[in-house]
Amino acid sequence: MVTDIDGLVADLSRAEKLALVCGTNDPDGTATGYLPGVPRLDVPPFRLVDGPLGIRAEGERATAFPATLATAATFDPDLAREQGAAMGREARAHDQHSLLAPGVNIVRVPHCGRNFEYLSEDPVLASAFSRALVDGIESENVVATVKHFVANNQETHRTTVSADVDERTLRELYLPPFRAAVEAGVGSVMTAYNRVNGTHMSDHAHLVGDVLKDEWGFSGYVVSDWYGLETTVGAANAGLDLEMPGVPSGPDDEDEEFEWPDGIPDGSHAGLFGEPLAAAIDDGSVPADRLDDMVRRVLGQMARIGLFADSRPDGELDSQRHRDLARDISTRGTVLLDNDGVLPLADDTDVALIGPHIHEAKLGGGGSSETTPFHSVSPVDGLTERAGGTVATARGIPEIESVSLFDLLPFVDSGHENDASSAPDGDPSLDDAVAAAEAADVAVVLARDATTEARDRDSLALPGQQDELVEAVAAANDRTVVVLRSGGPVETPWRDDVAAVVEQWYPGQADGAALASVLYGDSDPGGRLPVTFAPEGSYLTSDERRFPGEDDVARYDEGVFVGYRHFDSGDDEPTYPFGHGHSYATFEYGDATVVGDATVELSVRNVADRPGRDVVQAYVRPPAVDGIDRPVREFAAAQSVALDPGETGTVTLELDELAFSRYDEGWTVDSGQYRVEVGRSSSDVRATVDLDR
Ligand code: NOJ
Repeated sequence: MVTDIDGLVADLSRAEKLALVCGTNDPDGTATGYLPGVPRLDVPPFRLVDGPLGIRAEGERATAFPATLATAATFDPDLAREQGAAMGREARAHDQHSLLAPGVNIVRVPHCGRNFEYLSEDPVLASAFSRALVDGIESENVVATVKHFVANNQETHRTTVSADVDERTLRELYLPPFRAAVEAGVGSVMTAYNRVNGTHMSDHAHLVGDVLKDEWGFSGYVVSDWYGLETTVGAANAGLDLEMPGVPSGPDDEDEEFEWPDGIPDGSHAGLFGEPLAAAIDDGSVPADRLDDMVRRVLGQMARIGLFADSRPDGELDSQRHRDLARDISTRGTVLLDNDGVLPLADDTDVALIGPHIHEAKLGGGGSSETTPFHSVSPVDGLTERAGGTVATARGIPEIESVSLFDLLPFVDSGHENDASSAPDGDPSLDDAVAAAEAADVAVVLARDATTEARDRDSLALPGQQDELVEAVAAANDRTVVVLRSGGPVETPWRDDVAAVVEQWYPGQADGAALASVLYGDSDPGGRLPVTFAPEGSYLTSDERRFPGEDDVARYDEGVFVGYRHFDSGDDEPTYPFGHGHSYATFEYGDATVVGDATVELSVRNVADRPGRDVVQAYVRPPAVDGIDRPVREFAAAQSVALDPGETGTVTLELDELAFSRYDEGWTVDSGQYRVEVGRSSSDVRATVDLDR
């Protein structure tokens, strides 16, 4: 077994070193990125694979977990750790070594096409999940790749736009989930396509070199996003270590006129860490020991996951525990937004299940995180299996066109089929939907958005005729439940006309089973909102200077006032606030007490006659300091607790230091009195206690 990395580096020829920092094609065709290794010195090949919702090895199947945003909605990082470990085992089963996950960019723009792959608008919540996912993946000897470093918060013009953002905002909001990953020992960091303050992230000496490597002490390798490398010398000297995929792509006919669509990086631009790097070392513009450092970092991770050992433990694929976990994360991440008492459904309820996609599981959004599961449960199958009464079905309106990054590439035959459908033939009819709703005890309407990598949504309204469908069904049955399946906030104009609203995000392969479990109350809806839902025009990014930006510059001049930090500080009212979500049970909170430096304790009692799950949240309100504009409150901790009827639990909340701190050339905690608010969301405070700093 090789452990002497320095000795190995000394034995490598320059060509061999270059082959360890510039990707090439995987001969098996399954990996998203590939290094051939150095057979002469027993350095094995290295395979990198997408992605955050499950393993996307080309042509292969794997467990399709819910969207990352759904995982974060559980507010329970332990589940994320389990998901990370399961994905690690599945990566090993597919003989992959590095997983291109987790995606931890802050949800700044509600329209962003990749929000479903990200965690939250809040840096403390996002950091807790970043840490847990990294921990889980790496506990199974797979290199986690935290992405996309940093300020990749929109897909529009993603390869050219500059996020113009001040240092305080970067430090307080956008960098923490990456720092958390580094603290958890992440092996790899992927740079973003975009620029920050004018410099491409792959060339960003300050953020990659000074902050990530020098200040945080990151010892793994920094990998480019695919075709995201802009320069050889700039990137090498900034601290980039590995170019992916390293080989050009494009139309087969090289003479063909081809314009790369917005959001798709120029695939003909590749191999910058091949010969051009050798030339740059020869002419002295990149120091030779920089190449050694790159190689050392890559080999170091290969050694860490045991690639130089005689054998690696087998992986695990589509096991019962992975299937169960995919289902549990979906139920635990499902958010009950409104409920007038119609839910949970009685066993013998006659249900009308309505919507254009009730016959297919909603796996995820489009792009590099698309998964192909071994099996999936459609909403119709899930409800039919569980229901004691009848389940009538109607599609009502034409299907909502799904969008995928892969469809944007004319020269790629994606064979793309995001969600497998078993819908019957024939045209859907609104009249049938209304008739089914009228005849049923309860109408359940499923509605979805359509999001993908490389495109942002142009509106938060539900696409197609879905609002019309909900209105028509609600007019026919006053016990109408709307189940949203979205990659972030959507508009709910019919909210007052329906009996319940559920947010199921993209539930993954367990879709229908998880849905039935929550609707019938077998599982309490355990999710809370990791992002604020608000009317489209009230987000600060509805100013086009901020999003999508002008002249390729997106001004982040709202500073730290993203998400609830904005809605708390002005007159704009959210539709559903950050942290919101009902349980089927009811909870009473005792007094909060301070039990440590930054630890608060309280009792919570389930006063309902059924079991339930509460997510107890703590927010910190800082003291006023002259001349400093701070959010009213910052999320600091949460604990998800399951309580039986009448049971009282003690909840211990360890408040994150970030919620107390602000950045002004360095970190400061102002002295004074901090009010800790404990409650059920950012705007439902049940107990307060003061803490001096
Ligand atoms: C581009 C995406 O931004 C990144 O998340 C993904 O891992 C790579 N493509 C590889 O597919």
